[in-house]
Amino acid sequence: MFGEEIKKQFPIFQHHPDLVYLDNAATTHKPKMVIDAIQHFYERENANIHRGIYDLASQTSIKYEKVRAQVARFLGANEEYAIVYTSGTTASINLVASSFLLSRLEMGDEVLISEMEHHANLIPWQMVCKRKGAILKTIPVSKTGELDLAAYQAVLSDRTKLVAITHISNALGTINPIEEMIKIAHRQGVPVLVDGAQSAAHYPMQVKAWDCDFFTFSGHKLFGPTGIGVLCGKKEWLEQMQPYQFGGDMIKKVNFESTTFAKIPQRFEAGTTNIAGVIGLGSAIEFLEQFDKKEMANYVKQLGKYAQSELAKMDEVEIIGTAPNKTGICSFLVKNAHPHDVATFLGSAQIAVRAGHHCTQPLMDLLGIPGTTRASFSIYNTKTDVNQLVRAVKEVIFFFK
Ligand code: ALA
Repeated sequence: MFGEEIKKQFPIFQHHPDLVYLDNAATTHKPKMVIDAIQHFYERENANIHRGIYDLASQTSIKYEKVRAQVARFLGANEEYAIVYTSGTTASINLVASSFLLSRLEMGDEVLISEMEHHANLIPWQMVCKRKGAILKTIPVSKTGELDLAAYQAVLSDRTKLVAITHISNALGTINPIEEMIKIAHRQGVPVLVDGAQSAAHYPMQVKAWDCDFFTFSGHKLFGPTGIGVLCGKKEWLEQMQPYQFGGDMIKKVNFESTTFAKIPQRFEAGTTNIAGVIGLGSAIEFLEQFDKKEMANYVKQLGKYAQSELAKMDEVEIIGTAPNKTGICSFLVKNAHPHDVATFLGSAQIAVRAGHHCTQPLMDLLGIPGTTRASFSIYNTKTDVNQLVRAVKEVIFFFK
């Protein structure tokens, strides 16, 4: 079902038949049904939402709201949660930082993240902490790329106001035990935000079962369009949050003196939102719903495992991130070659990978490396793709000897 068969649904591979696309952690390609849904919307349904009372406008508003319910189902959220559309994971995290954390934080309070966080799940907290004289603390990462849960418990304190952790590390591929981590934080009454940017596409999401307070993801990493993402949050928190962006469609009543805001989630969706993006996201979720998420996760995991074991056979290759519980993300170094040179070499062989710090500079500093070359897999990749990568890395080694 996966691999070559699924590839046929992705037009990019018809236009680039030689492309070995191993940069799925950066963005995934789009199946034809998603591209068609967006085109269909613009050709036949385009209208603004929540404003017009003519037919097109009300149909579009209904569709827009239907996708919200679809996203909630997809995430395993129930009526205790609300879905806010944002432009992506980064915007979702900034929303929580500005509208949730800022007003709760006092001098000397603490916010806890891990050492493996993407800049998007680090800088927003860092900025809020600086404004309030609060402290950003970190959960250490072991040599294999795992979070140290004993250290996590030790660093949680009665000053901790929020824990923000990634579900899956974009740089190392580690799958973090978020359910356990949420339990630990909740024992101390601390809410938890989970950055699901790397997990939402391939892993079964159980926001309610995990008792997650906030969960974020981006549409473009799960076969949907860019510029659309989600903040799924407990209503109990969202109700208490004031918006930090103001404008049309998020109000109840405005006069020159004051404004009252709309209910959640509209309160957080100022201005005309990415309506076509929402339609595309709905289609991407429909695409994903064809598959068993456990099978998807396993397929991607096995490809990563295969890549890792083949690359590790070479003395000149060092794998960065060897946690036993990993997704299909394989970061590595090649002796005598800078990651950018490796990626350039691979690129000239039509193998698309990402190289550099992967927006995790503090992690790279801790590891004492300038960055890595990263191959990240998805359901349209195959063992043949891995073999091509391995062959090309052998050539890189020979070239840089
Ligand atoms: N965060 C994305 C990546 O890891 C862009 O490549």
